[in-house]
Amino acid sequence: MRTETEHTIYLKDYAPSPYRIVSVDLDFKIQADNTRVRALLTVEPRETTAPGTPLVLDGDELHLSSVAIDGAPLALAAYAADANGLTIVEPPLRRFVLETEVLLQPEGNTKLMGLYRSSGTWCTQCEPEGFRRITYYLDRPDNLAVFKVRMTAPLDLAPVLLANGNLIDKGDAGDGMHYAVWEDPFPKPAYLFALVAGDLGSITDNFTTASGRKVDLAIYCTHGKESQCLWAMDSLKRSMAWDERRFGREYDLDIFNIVAVSDFNFGAMENKGLNIFNDRLVFAEPETATDGNYDGIERVIAHEYFHNWTGNRVTCRDWFQLCLKEGLTVYRDQEFTSDERSRAVKRISDVVTLRSAQFPEDGGPLAHPPRPDQYREINNFYTTTVYEKGAEIVRMLATLLGTDGFRKGTDLYFERHDGQATTIEAFLAAFSDANDVNLDQFKAWYLQAGTPHLSVDQHYDADKQTYTLKLKQQTLPTPGQPTKQDLVLPIKFGLIGPNGSPMSWSGVSGAQVRDDLIVFNGAEAEVTFTGIPSRPVPSLLREFSAPVVLETGLSQEDQLFLARHDSDPFNRWQALQDVGMALAVDAIGGKPWRDEAVAALSQAMSDTLGNSELDDAYKALAVTLPDEQMIGRAIGSNIDPQKIHEGRRDLLKAVFAPLAEQLRKTYEGLTSTVPYSPDAASTGRRALRNRALGLLVGSGVAGASELAAQQYSTASNMTDRLAALSVLATYGTVEAPALLADFRTRFGGDPLVLDKWLSVTASVPRDGVIEDMKAILADPSFPKTNPNRLRSLVGTFAMGNPTQFMRADGAGFRFVAEFVTEVDKINPQVAARVLTGFRIWPMLESGRRDAAKAVLAGLQAGGTLSRNTADILTRMLAS
Ligand code: ARG
Ligand code: ZN
Repeated sequence: MRTETEHTIYLKDYAPSPYRIVSVDLDFKIQADNTRVRALLTVEPRETTAPGTPLVLDGDELHLSSVAIDGAPLALAAYAADANGLTIVEPPLRRFVLETEVLLQPEGNTKLMGLYRSSGTWCTQCEPEGFRRITYYLDRPDNLAVFKVRMTAPLDLAPVLLANGNLIDKGDAGDGMHYAVWEDPFPKPAYLFALVAGDLGSITDNFTTASGRKVDLAIYCTHGKESQCLWAMDSLKRSMAWDERRFGREYDLDIFNIVAVSDFNFGAMENKGLNIFNDRLVFAEPETATDGNYDGIERVIAHEYFHNWTGNRVTCRDWFQLCLKEGLTVYRDQEFTSDERSRAVKRISDVVTLRSAQFPEDGGPLAHPPRPDQYREINNFYTTTVYEKGAEIVRMLATLLGTDGFRKGTDLYFERHDGQATTIEAFLAAFSDANDVNLDQFKAWYLQAGTPHLSVDQHYDADKQTYTLKLKQQTLPTPGQPTKQDLVLPIKFGLIGPNGSPMSWSGVSGAQVRDDLIVFNGAEAEVTFTGIPSRPVPSLLREFSAPVVLETGLSQEDQLFLARHDSDPFNRWQALQDVGMALAVDAIGGKPWRDEAVAALSQAMSDTLGNSELDDAYKALAVTLPDEQMIGRAIGSNIDPQKIHEGRRDLLKAVFAPLAEQLRKTYEGLTSTVPYSPDAASTGRRALRNRALGLLVGSGVAGASELAAQQYSTASNMTDRLAALSVLATYGTVEAPALLADFRTRFGGDPLVLDKWLSVTASVPRDGVIEDMKAILADPSFPKTNPNRLRSLVGTFAMGNPTQFMRADGAGFRFVAEFVTEVDKINPQVAARVLTGFRIWPMLESGRRDAAKAVLAGLQAGGTLSRNTADILTRMLAS
């Protein structure tokens, strides 16, 4: 395998740059087929910089046309420039202005990093290393500079000209051109730079901050989509108010702009004062967007807005610290959603995501610590470990310190580090100083990869009236980390007495226990409670208070007792999941289930459905079985996805077919005629109704698929329509082909709805899906440069269609590998991301394992791969 360049960056090598860029003056001349960028960089040596130390600037695919210092052009010998950098051999040892000019071709930029065009609009993406594709620069997050940006562009192609900060000038530039000048007073790293030029519509609004600053808000989009931006605007205003209430954080500029673009490598980007979004996370109207889309928009609008403090005002010293801003900001957006909607439902959904995405990453060849200590390609570290496990770590801090202690910590963090580029160590120091606690051992969460296993044995002594919990933790080795240290595990818990009410104790010994929290930080511990009149049932890890795999060995009877009586909604949900999981794992492993055990689960599901104290959204999450991927994880090795698929379907039928009448009544009782609204209660109602429908179809109940087909045809919103379509397609009912075709004709003209069709098509667990996808990709009108289309089709297939992707004959693996090879030449980030779908390969049964390995080895032996894809491939094969 040849790769672009082989290099590994190590955290231990971090050193400040010998020069700093303190201010930046950019002049963009945007034209129909190229863009010229003139940069004036005010550079200062550090006091410690020795004479003759070269200034080394990053560049990527740049073409230099001129270079000067303080106005004087440089002699050829004074600098060295190529596409990847510019070195000034012997810069002056004083403040000076470096002037460069480069010519860019945004039109041909299919990597979508740096300056590129999306449906004609010029836009930028700079995090993490895209600014070097715009101009030669110290493209590292610890260089904070103030930016002034002048843009000149054709008035007809780009009547709207935006950049970070405030608009300070604009006007006519002659020859059909106009200009705008923007200035951002807040020093920032280059990854937060942004510019947009295009012919865009907008909606506007405003927000008055707690201290009375009036902020003008605008969302820009393709003409005609304005009315689809209202939910995003509503979400933005609620986010701004929430950050003031919960974290005391106010917005700091007079303008906050959001721009929706169609071609974007990920969800969205928090550029200072000018967030740029993938349009799928902005546009929503009931006929074309699902409840899931509304949720996603609210969450990501909040996430990017919250970055203004956690990421922008306080940024990262280097990219190893990525989790400093991402883990914390995900935690903040999770809390926002919990406060705005249902805390229990949000927690359960987040844990489902964590288990189905992060746990497999942490248990496979791509495992890495939330703060890695080396990388070859930083783009490959925007992972669920950095984001979601990072958020879990912050959540544990909040649990350990309590609400007030946690807030004291964030207050001190902002106070100390505002305007700085900092580290995980500084973050933890703020919490430990504000609360006078030692967080040295806690820090290991950031440094260690792998999901800890927490096992708990219980013992009740009737004579002594004591109850003992024996705790053990273990983290298995991960690539590059053969030995693991013990972690601090905050275990929220309660004991439940035989009558279902909480049981208290007169004394406790053996570990740190405060109220409802055990802080377990050794390899083993015994916690003994005294004054316990009868054997309690323990409810452990309430609210999923630590991101671990918990093994309790509780009997089915105890689990079902918890499902009924636990005051913690998370653990009630968990108990039902555990019962389902145990049955599924047994059945797939060849141990047929006992009918009484299935009947008991069925009964518990029925009780849950009928419980009027539980809300609909919660019930929708509860009345289901763990998904195929989670069952695979629980099995752990020699995975046969086909067996899991069949075993789970059989179990689903056995548990839910007996509830057909109740499910049908539930379905009918939730039918609504009021207009669509994305509020939590309405969303919950649709979720439960569609869950009931899915279970009816999945259990093969007579008339169920007709009911789904009818729902498809009469639906007044996309949530209901897509839910019906997708359940019919998943179960391959006779109605499916015609309805899939209908959906395509009805909505194929709307790219974001086309994505839904592509995803449903790609996730159907049946033969022929690969041929269907090949035909879609071969259609010349299929846009291979658009990440949303590619991910909806092939990304969904590799991550969400286990039986076909992991076909025993290897055809699924080959299809994805061919796709990766082709797309890698267009957009390496998309290719590398899709390739991570292979990470499960070492856990597969031998036939599939060999097939996957052969395909990966073939990819490695093949042509040139991008650094992104080569890095994933190498790590994947090393295990
Ligand atoms: N900072 C952005 C966010 O979390 C995402 C940037 C993703 N960058 C990447 N190279 N994957 O909202
Ligand atoms: Zn983020």
